[in-house]
Amino acid sequence: MSNQEIDTYFAQLYEQDIILNRIKERMQQYGLPNIAVHEGYGRLLTLLVRICGAKDILEIGALGGYSGYCLLRGMVEKGIIVSLELQQRYADVAKRNLTEAGYGQQVEYRIGEALDSLAQLEQEQAQFDFIFIDADKSNYPHYLSSAIRLARPGALIVADNVLLQGRTLNAVKQGPAVQAMRQFNKQLAQDKRLISTFLPAYDGLSLALVR
Ligand code: DHB
Ligand code: MG
Repeated sequence: MSNQEIDTYFAQLYEQDIILNRIKERMQQYGLPNIAVHEGYGRLLTLLVRICGAKDILEIGALGGYSGYCLLRGMVEKGIIVSLELQQRYADVAKRNLTEAGYGQQVEYRIGEALDSLAQLEQEQAQFDFIFIDADKSNYPHYLSSAIRLARPGALIVADNVLLQGRTLNAVKQGPAVQAMRQFNKQLAQDKRLISTFLPAYDGLSLALVR
């Protein structure tokens, strides 16, 4: 039973999601990289947002709006996502995807370096009840520190790609993204303000609740 077989098994249980398929098609059409969060984790994002009743969501890394859609469809009440994206071109695709899905009024894109947007949000004293980190990996430790400051008590902080396709565990690998991810994972596990765990499927996902 390979991971691929398990993956295929769970995927075929679900009906095709027309909106998600369209989002993926458009990402391909506009030449965006094929690195959206895995389908199974997309469903988990929806579920987690629903469980914690999140209304104010922060997403670090919009790409084509795939995770944005998964987060928005989890909301019971009409909340909003502030989505940080380096590339205007990606945010344009994401905005179009979310608009077609009926969520265009519920997303605010902030373009540029996420670190700058995070500093700005902190200055505005913005507060969120769900934060999803899925952007450039070498800044993950900074994103976590900022996320904790921007989190309401009880907020959830979720991060994608904590395994870096195994590089996180491979001592030979010492590049900036790998070193940053090791630091991020350690910080997440040891910070007393958090209750956390890691899901090892796909490329690894971390979950942390801010006390
Ligand atoms: C990469 C980034 C991601 O967020 C991801 O889920 C997969 C790959 C990357 O930069 O290669
Ligand atoms: Mg990712």
